[in-house]
Amino acid sequence: MMKIDVAKKIQKLSSSIFQEIVDRKLAAIHNGLDVIDLSVGSPDFQPPEFVVETLSEYAKDPSKYGYTLRGIPEFYEAVSYFYKQRYNVDLDPSKEILQLMGSQDGLAHLAMAIINPGDYVLVPDPGYPIYEASVTIAGGQVYPMRLLEENNFLPKLDEIPLEVLQKTKMMIISYPGNPVTALANREFFEEVVEFAKLHNILVVHDFAYSELIFDHNPQISFLSVPGAKEVGIEFNSLSKTFNMAGCRIAYVSGNEQAVAALASFKSHIDYGIFYPIQAAAVKALTSDFSFFKSQVSEYERRRDALIAGLEKSGWHVAKSPATMFVWAKIPAGFSSRRFAFELIDRAGVAVVPGDAFGKLGEGYVRIALVQPPERLSEAAERIQSYLMEAVITK
Ligand SMILES: Cc1ncc(COP(=O)(O)O)c(C=O)c1O
Repeated sequence: MMKIDVAKKIQKLSSSIFQEIVDRKLAAIHNGLDVIDLSVGSPDFQPPEFVVETLSEYAKDPSKYGYTLRGIPEFYEAVSYFYKQRYNVDLDPSKEILQLMGSQDGLAHLAMAIINPGDYVLVPDPGYPIYEASVTIAGGQVYPMRLLEENNFLPKLDEIPLEVLQKTKMMIISYPGNPVTALANREFFEEVVEFAKLHNILVVHDFAYSELIFDHNPQISFLSVPGAKEVGIEFNSLSKTFNMAGCRIAYVSGNEQAVAALASFKSHIDYGIFYPIQAAAVKALTSDFSFFKSQVSEYERRRDALIAGLEKSGWHVAKSPATMFVWAKIPAGFSSRRFAFELIDRAGVAVVPGDAFGKLGEGYVRIALVQPPERLSEAAERIQSYLMEAVITK
């Protein structure tokens, strides 16, 4: 049979760890183990009822089945309203916003719209995998910015060599992010704006978890910092905010040139989102936001149940200030992979080894808060038994 050679840039993409987790999970289930799956970041919560009602109502209208291209005007108005209400940011719906089929769509395609072969892009290490993958696909060079606990997981911008900065066209940051759940303060964002102006770098802020911020921590949009729109754009999504991950609807906003570049690129590859999904998103973005309060407290309960349970085994894990994850530094003596793989095989708990997100993820695992508190407590108990056994057999 003819052999199909996969493109070299695709061969360079690493997805093996995620696949290995899936395979191990399935093997454990096949062997009769009850697996508590905390490996996938897909919300188990439901969207608000009015979202489901709006979507089904419009789905019954046969006139709403055509292409929608760049999206309906009401969606753009709704994003502008949402940004003003939630983050005190003014956005011009006609040129500072672009609808996306998930922020993954935008993040994956942005580098293709902006980066030339050889251009550098600064990406966080650890970071959400599409940041690096998108640059690789576009033929750019990744420069990892080190996110260390001792620096509150903020990159030290003065560590980046000048030779790199001279070739850098874009930088990606995410606060709060995935897998690192840390928040940035306003001073850091101000420093980024100055840095970007000085070195002529487009700043990309991924704000996918903007509404999952705990303990009354401040909710800071990068675009709310003076000068941010001159240098940057911000991705946001309805996936986690309104539990609409499968609807594939999100948006990017900010710098109009960058928005236009991505819009132009996307006009060649897709024809817009199903109208009823857009109508449901409009309803969500213009609702009274009371939905967020209960959602945030439920995630806080989950986080607290997990961390209190782990504490009993002597494993002290830092409390996430935001997102739907816990970024847990693993006990000494384990590698991330050994820890994660043995947790599946011996404890029936699936988490992701930290090195799936970059070199500096080694020594951590990512635990997704996608099960009710009781199930997370049970996971913690199983982890406790595993840790005791591991210590005995060491
Ligand atoms: C940090 C971050 N950015 C972007 C995304 C993509 O989200 P979506 O494409 O559903 O908007 C995710 C999904 O998990 C994420 O964790």
